[in-house]
Amino acid sequence: MTKHIGILTAGGDSPGLNAAIRGAGKAAQGHYGMQMIGFLDGFRGLVDNRFTRLDGEFLSGILTRGGTILGTSRDKPHRMLFGGKTQDMTDVIVENYHANHLDALICIGGGGTQKNALKLMEKGLNIITLPKTIDNDVGLTDVTFGFDTALGIATDAIDRLHSTAHSHHRIIVVEIMGHRAGWLALGAGIAGGADVILLPEIPYDLEVVADAIRERSRSGKNFSIVAVAEGALPTDKASLVHEAEQRKLNAANKKEKKDAKEDLAQLNLEYANHTVLLSKQLEQMTGLESRVTILGHLQRGGTPSAADRLLATRLGTACADLIEQDHFGVMVAARGDDAVPVPLKEVAGNKKLVPTDHTWVTSAQRVGTCLGIR
Ligand code: F6P
Repeated sequence: MTKHIGILTAGGDSPGLNAAIRGAGKAAQGHYGMQMIGFLDGFRGLVDNRFTRLDGEFLSGILTRGGTILGTSRDKPHRMLFGGKTQDMTDVIVENYHANHLDALICIGGGGTQKNALKLMEKGLNIITLPKTIDNDVGLTDVTFGFDTALGIATDAIDRLHSTAHSHHRIIVVEIMGHRAGWLALGAGIAGGADVILLPEIPYDLEVVADAIRERSRSGKNFSIVAVAEGALPTDKASLVHEAEQRKLNAANKKEKKDAKEDLAQLNLEYANHTVLLSKQLEQMTGLESRVTILGHLQRGGTPSAADRLLATRLGTACADLIEQDHFGVMVAARGDDAVPVPLKEVAGNKKLVPTDHTWVTSAQRVGTCLGIR
C-alpha cells in the first residue's frame, strides 16, 4: 500500500527548511515510493486544506534556497484567528488529515511547533517532527537547522562592525536574535570577538559592562563591540520579569493570572527598545560615542550554510526512514552523526537555554569577554 504523507513548515522561517523538505520528499517518494503533499503557510494551510503535490519538479533546485517553498505562519491549531475570532481548529485539521487519506504528517518547526504537533498527536494523528530554528533552543537535539547559517551571518556582521567601531573610536551595540535563548549571541559574540556579550540567561549589571569598556579605553582600546541578545535583561528588570512569571505560574485564579500576564506585557513593552537604551546608557557612562545595529531578520534570510543543508538533509531523510517503519509521535533529533527519534512528549515545552556553566560561557570568560557580571 502506498503511504500518503503531508508536510508543513511552521513558526518563523529558518535557513535549511527547503533542504529538509527536499530530503524528506526525495527519500519518501524516490526511495520508498510514498506520495507527499505540502500544506501551505503552516497549520493554517491544513485548516484551509490548501496544499500542493510535492512531485519531483517541486523538489528540484530548492536545496540552496532560503525561506520555505511552502510558506509558513505562527498559527496554532488550538488558538487560530478564523472567521474574525480566535477558535480551536484542531477538529478541522483532523478532518482534513483523514480527507486526504494521510498516513503521517511531518511538522517542521521550533519549540512552538513541537507543542502544537504533540496536541495533534494526542488527537490520534501520526505525527513526526523536525527541529528548525535559528535560536537553537529546542531541547533533546544537539542542534537545530538554521542556527549555523544565522551564526555565520551574525559573526560576519560583528567582523564588519569591528573596523568601523575601531575607526571612529566608538562603542557599537549589536542586537542579535534568539528570543529568550542566548545561543546565537554567545556563539557569534565568541566567533566575532565581541568585547561584551549579554545573554538572557545571565542578567547583566550595567556598571560591570561600563567598567569593562572603560578598562579597555584605559589600555588604549578606545572602541568596543557589545553583542546583546534580544532577550537580555539588566538585573533589576530580570527580577521583575521573574517575579511576574512566577505569579503567572502559581496564580490561584483567573484574575491573578490575568494580572500577572498584563504585568509581563507591560514589562515587555517598557523593554522593547532596550538595545537603544543600553547604547545611550553606555555612552553616558563611558564618554565614548555609541551606535546601535539591530541585525533582525537578516539573520534568517538567504542561502543556508553547507552545515545546515547537510543537517536538514540528514534529518529529513531519517524522517522518511522512520515513517517507513511506522515510527510516529517523535521528533527526529541530531545526536552526533546520528539522527534519533525522541518522544514528542519529552520535547514539547523543553526549551534549551544556555546553561550558565556551559563550555561556551567558560571559553568566553577565559578570553576576557565581559558577560556583564563580576
Ligand atoms: O524564533 C526565531 C526568531 O527569529 C526569534 O529569534 C525572534 O525572537 C523571532 O523569531 C522573531 O519573530 P518574527 O519573525 O515573528 O518577528
